[in-house]
Amino acid sequence: MQHHNAVLEVQAMKKYFPIKKGFLKRTIGQVKAVDDVSFFIEQGETFGLVGESGCGKSTLGKSILRAIEPSDGSITFVNRKEEAVEVRDLDNKQLRDIRRDMQLIFQDPYSSLNPRMTVLNIIGEPLICNGIAKGEELKRRVGDLMDLVGLNRKHLERYPHAFSGGQRQRIGIARALATDPKFLVCDEAVSALDVSIQAQIINLLQSLQQKLNLSYLFISHDLGVIQHISDRVGVMYVGKMVEVAATDKLFSSPKHPYTEALLSAKPVPIPKQKRERIILKGEVANPANPPSGCYFHPRCLYAQDICKQQAPDFKEIEAGHFVACHMAKDLDLKGVKVQ
Ligand SMILES: Nc1ncnc2c1ncn2[C@@H]1O[C@H](COP(=O)(O)OP(=O)(O)OP(=O)(O)O)[C@@H](O)[C@H]1O
Ligand SMILES: [Mg+2]
Repeated sequence: MQHHNAVLEVQAMKKYFPIKKGFLKRTIGQVKAVDDVSFFIEQGETFGLVGESGCGKSTLGKSILRAIEPSDGSITFVNRKEEAVEVRDLDNKQLRDIRRDMQLIFQDPYSSLNPRMTVLNIIGEPLICNGIAKGEELKRRVGDLMDLVGLNRKHLERYPHAFSGGQRQRIGIARALATDPKFLVCDEAVSALDVSIQAQIINLLQSLQQKLNLSYLFISHDLGVIQHISDRVGVMYVGKMVEVAATDKLFSSPKHPYTEALLSAKPVPIPKQKRERIILKGEVANPANPPSGCYFHPRCLYAQDICKQQAPDFKEIEAGHFVACHMAKDLDLKGVKVQ
């Protein structure tokens, strides 16, 4: 581990999906969904991950948990015994063990809960599967988890359809917390919810973080939510991490032209609007056939010749401020006001 207080360190992570064609399913190319991404998450912090649809956020999140197999790179994770382990080296049994420590909260509370299972069995499943609890003990622990996330423990025997969207997301959170993890990947965890419910779930996640000393990788394409919840933020563009900085720094003085463009397109929240969408001029590069040099150069207002020819390195240009742009030191980019 290079960062002594990190819970997670990802180095040079790649996830390529083969593109297959024809009867023989020959591989004719690769979708570079995550392409050489490095970053770390500190103990107890929320690392926000933002970027346009298809830039690789979910692929990165799932690869860290090995819900999908990364193609390359290293994932160092500090488990509950405070041992730094290389997640990519774990066999199936070791993976099952480590999944008690790292969990995923999904986007859609409607499709991720089995409609034929009671809340007791949904939340309790990780406890049952890991042989941690059964019978009355299981009921007590699931009841405690329901208390923790603001659900009524009397509703243990109900089915998911009896709950509202926000309550279902609470069920998903309780389930993720069942094995007492220390790190959660929240992938668009509030994106499907109404704005008022979003705020409640965000508050819940923040208070749980305090109580349980959790670390979050919080994935969202909603800049408002990212700004509100994150200690530090990473910006992805076509499989690459292009900028990482403390939240206020990133929003007030971005160093990457893509971040500047994202911020300028940040929509003003309209009450009752379900999702805030990022709308940027120009087309997102195709991760199966990216442009030469810096992937952002065809859309970049400041591109020079070097940007067409050479991919920029991801470098720390100020303490804690990482950016992949040839021009980063010369540009004076526009941020947004930080409350
Ligand atoms: N199983 C898969 N097979 C092939 N390509 C995939 C697969 N999963 C994702 N991709 C591709 O990888 C790229 C990244 O997808 P990913 O879902 O990680 O993006 P995202 O940033 O999470 O987008 P969104 O904001 O829409 O959730 C996309 O080009 C996508 O089409
Ligand atoms: Mg996604």
